[in-house]
Amino acid sequence: MHLSHLTLVALILGVDKVIPQTVTIDVHNAQVAQYIDARFIGVTLDSYYFTTHFKGINFSSQRLLTLARGLTPCYLRLGGTDADYVVFNKNSHVGRDVDKRFILNSNKYTFGTSDWDRVNGFVRNAGLDFIFDLNLSLRKNGRWDPTNAKELFQYSIQKGYKFAGIELGNEMEYNKDTHVTAQQSAQDFATLKQVINSMPGLSHPKIYGPAVAGIFYRSFTYAEDFLKAGGANHVDILTYHHYYTSGPKATVEMYHDHKVLDTLKKGLTSVMDARNKYAPGKTVWLGETSAAYSRAPGDLNRLYAASFPWLDKLGVAALYGVKGLMRQALYAGLVDEHTNPRNDYWVTRMYKQLVGNRVLKLNGSPNVNLRFYSHCTTYPSPLGYAKGSVTVYLMNLGSSAITVNINGAANQHLYMLSPGDNNGLRSAYIKLNGNVLRMTNDSYIPQFSHVQHRGSVRVEAHNMGFIVLTDIRKVECL
Ligand SMILES: *[C@@H]1O[C@H](CO)[C@@H](O)[C@H](O)[C@H]1NC(C)=O
Ligand SMILES: *[C@@H]1O[C@H](CO)[C@@H](O)[C@H](O)[C@H]1NC(C)=O
Ligand SMILES: *[C@@H]1O[C@H](CO)[C@@H](O)[C@H](O)[C@H]1NC(C)=O
Repeated sequence: MHLSHLTLVALILGVDKVIPQTVTIDVHNAQVAQYIDARFIGVTLDSYYFTTHFKGINFSSQRLLTLARGLTPCYLRLGGTDADYVVFNKNSHVGRDVDKRFILNSNKYTFGTSDWDRVNGFVRNAGLDFIFDLNLSLRKNGRWDPTNAKELFQYSIQKGYKFAGIELGNEMEYNKDTHVTAQQSAQDFATLKQVINSMPGLSHPKIYGPAVAGIFYRSFTYAEDFLKAGGANHVDILTYHHYYTSGPKATVEMYHDHKVLDTLKKGLTSVMDARNKYAPGKTVWLGETSAAYSRAPGDLNRLYAASFPWLDKLGVAALYGVKGLMRQALYAGLVDEHTNPRNDYWVTRMYKQLVGNRVLKLNGSPNVNLRFYSHCTTYPSPLGYAKGSVTVYLMNLGSSAITVNINGAANQHLYMLSPGDNNGLRSAYIKLNGNVLRMTNDSYIPQFSHVQHRGSVRVEAHNMGFIVLTDIRKVECL
């Protein structure tokens, strides 16, 4: 192979070294582009857990409750692939025990009142807003049969359980066992709406759908057909799932590759175009989302590098007009199997505490490695920031430091995040301003502490973070 002298130099130096390493961000002239609300980030639990009676999850664990409360206000969406294999049995305490082989063969299994009581007890104790995904595969004469849903609703009303939302089905465009067309699904949602309206005791939960698996290809088309068939008349919120890749295909490199992160912008552009064409004004959510679907050995979603796609997705989604992201998953996701908060738990909590409802559109000098977003700071602020403060959050995807000048900033509070140990991008831990974040007390989450700063900010290689402009008194944020 013959390489030119220049190519060799570029290879030796690395691409990062040849691009300008100073970025100026203009907060002063930034305008409000979108609004989100305090429940923008929700969390999920997978319906899969019904099959094990929530084995491993201790719903009365003080630690889990503290961590869940630490994200409120927050939705908990209980759904996923197995939702279409779930049936409620009001006459049974435990439901029918499940053999894994049955699930793979899509045979029936049921959950009883005790599992339902446990989940709802947790939801209530943690102060979460509950969204439940019903079995769209329960069908009669080609239509969804709501009998089982009505039983579940009646039981829930009797017990005083509240639903913030109801979904029907999950990723039906890929369901191998039940084929429901997008047009029929729209009809099924109309049935769901009737059922919900006929039961005022439910206190009018919102309806979410069609819960397609992605924002491209078959999923996009299925959702578009659903919209064309008038599906949006029967749902309050359009839900698309989003992952950049699958667990087995994911690599640490992909997680900080700007080209991979940019695919979300492309997908959301078509999603919003379709929404504007067929259902103008309808709210769009990423109803189930994370970096990679299907966990693989070595699960990269728990590593430091996975916080890049998470934080970037929050920024892109807010700017493109998405109003909710349900992060897969609370348990065995943001919180690990030993009830320790993982990196993305900290990032999520920090986002909720620092990033407010008004989304600002920032201009800045382009640099493929520096991703930056800004909102007015959360107000009222759990960390005591005044109205008019602005939060910039940014990440340096590259392997050399970048100097960032923020126009309009005087005093800044820095919350800079870096890998928690020598494993770097593969670290299972995360540092805030140089100290590893840990939860040492089951009933208390330590408050995030900042570093005071003035002037330009040096964002080290592979660092990310939040910068609060404390005394900017930005008019758009007052
Ligand atoms: C669940 O958590 C409760 C409260 O912290 C504790 O008393 C109980 O022992 C835990 N159960 C298991 C199985 O760990
Ligand atoms: C959900 O409904 C479908 C259709 O009736 C059925 O095949 C499937 O077994 C159901 N799931 C369970 C767990 O019963
Ligand atoms: C945990 O935090 C709570 C609330 O601040 C405090 O009252 C309690 O003493 C702490 N427990 C331990 C073991 O430090």
